[in-house]
Amino acid sequence: MADNNAFNTDEHLLAEIAWEVCNQVGGIYTVIRSKVPTMVNKWGENYVLLGPYAKKEANTDFEEFDFEHPILKEAVENCRNKGLDIKSGHWLVSGRPKTLLFNHFSVYHELGNIKYYYWQNHTIDFNQHEPLLDEVLAFGYMVHLFLSELTRVALKHKVKPLAHFHEWMAASALPNLRRDQVPLQTVFTTHATLLGRYLAMNDPRFYDHLPFMDWLKEAQYFNIEANVKLERACVHGAHVFTTVSEVTGKECLHLLGRSPDLILPNGLNIERFSVLHEVQNLHHEYKQLLEQFVMGHFFQSYSFDLNKTLYFFTSGRFEYSNKGYDLTLEALARLNHRLKEMNSPLTVVMFFITRQPVQSINPDVLNARAMLDKIHTNSEEIVEQIKQRLIRQAAASKGDHKLPNLNDMVDDYWKLRHRRTIQSWKTDQLPPVVTHNLVDDSSDQILNFLRTSNLVNNKEDNVKIVYHPDFISSTNPLFGMEYDDFVRACHLGVFPSYYEPWGYTPLECLARGVAAITSDLSGFGDYMKNVDIGDEQHGMFIVKRANKSFDESAEELCNTMLKFIQNSSRARIDMRNKSEDLSECFDWKNLYSAYEKSYIKASETLF
Ligand code: G6P
Ligand code: GLC
Repeated sequence: MADNNAFNTDEHLLAEIAWEVCNQVGGIYTVIRSKVPTMVNKWGENYVLLGPYAKKEANTDFEEFDFEHPILKEAVENCRNKGLDIKSGHWLVSGRPKTLLFNHFSVYHELGNIKYYYWQNHTIDFNQHEPLLDEVLAFGYMVHLFLSELTRVALKHKVKPLAHFHEWMAASALPNLRRDQVPLQTVFTTHATLLGRYLAMNDPRFYDHLPFMDWLKEAQYFNIEANVKLERACVHGAHVFTTVSEVTGKECLHLLGRSPDLILPNGLNIERFSVLHEVQNLHHEYKQLLEQFVMGHFFQSYSFDLNKTLYFFTSGRFEYSNKGYDLTLEALARLNHRLKEMNSPLTVVMFFITRQPVQSINPDVLNARAMLDKIHTNSEEIVEQIKQRLIRQAAASKGDHKLPNLNDMVDDYWKLRHRRTIQSWKTDQLPPVVTHNLVDDSSDQILNFLRTSNLVNNKEDNVKIVYHPDFISSTNPLFGMEYDDFVRACHLGVFPSYYEPWGYTPLECLARGVAAITSDLSGFGDYMKNVDIGDEQHGMFIVKRANKSFDESAEELCNTMLKFIQNSSRARIDMRNKSEDLSECFDWKNLYSAYEKSYIKASETLF
């Protein structure tokens, strides 16, 4: 039974469509997945998710069964009878939503017709062969047929159908549904604009130039004319058009020709992340694991005081300037210089977690890690030997019961083995900056910056770098932990993006009690301006990038990091608790209301 709220969900049926339903690619996956428990709670049985059938993920995360919901059951059966390959079942995530996965490859023989009709009806020319576009169009074709049928069946049952599409890739059905005048109420949410992403990457003054851009000329220049035209057709075809932040809203007006009707900010299912009072313990526990990596990686060359070491990280897709990696590197170089000048005893280890083409993990890095593990095992053996002998000696002791010389309690075999292992581990070389062998090492932007600024893990540097060009997973032999746990182990997340419609990473940090830096150009940072407790005490730092030069922002970022590391341990503990409190403002339980407004608005559509 659906929850009581302003919008009567019993009279409606909501289909939410996204490319990342049971198919993880990026941030939209987090939006959909984390929102499920709230959606199921609000909509009860009348909620279904639609996505493409990605076999690998479906095999593990999807459980097939036939729906009992009369409308969905009838619509699915009718479509199957027409030959559509639709899998129905539960997506096995918290909330277990009813989900339909469309095997879009099964209609590839129709692609010629699909493209022809698109050209005829919407004057979009999909002639260029692009594998992704083929998938998008085939998926849209199936969704179009299904939603048309669903609408017919739902109206027969006196239930009003609503369709909420996320991003152009999942919405190629939308222009055709409108053209056919299917009486289905529609919401379209864009999570970025195609052109915005390209332009921001290539124009350091993107925001100044934005109002004067000629979208068609730019789309042709980047060779994405058909994609952009499809995106615009979705935007203009929807009854209600929304996006995730005010920042992207402005971009939509200039690049897509329509201002969003509503802003739908992104949240998290905070319950999933909040580990009451455990946040301190977990930080401590995972920091110890991270320290194992740091010792293995650095201490073979030289050592530093782990009690005076802070761990920073950034993570995300490799979009060097959009994600603000360029700014982060510049600020780190300045920070290193300042700390050296101050003769500071502190060390900052900065992790870049992103994905670049790699050949393999650097064998030296793996070996260093393995050697430390060996030292660990040896030490355990030695301790065990001492323990046994000490107990025996204590039991038999007479006289003054003094602690004997422990050194004498270790066999020569272990002494030698211990010494040899350490000897073969220690090296005169500097600790590597990058953990993997990159396919294109010589033109990698992060590496090139580090080489030019000589920030290459020299002994005397306070700022050390670990560039890990792959995402973290528990099977990764270097860290041996999940990404979530890695985040908890760190002290600060650094995300001063230049182009970022929302930006989940800083929010994910806060939810785990980790302070984070974002920028005022990110949707999330901009939204924070209106959150009372979105301040530094709560672990939220916002670097200004709007109307600021690169140099000014780099300086501010450096100062922010410097201020952060000068906090006492007590202050950091306090901040961890408060960060968790702040993250609660982003619980879907609160942010769902914006979604509801969009459904109310869409339901006012008259046919
Ligand atoms: C948590 C743990 C404490 C630990 C502290 C270290 O609060 O419960 O045992 O001392 O973290 O914090 P730090 O910011 O120095 O890593
Ligand atoms: C896109 C945006 C990102 C946002 C995500 C979810 O991936 O680039 O900023 O967090 O969508 O809305």
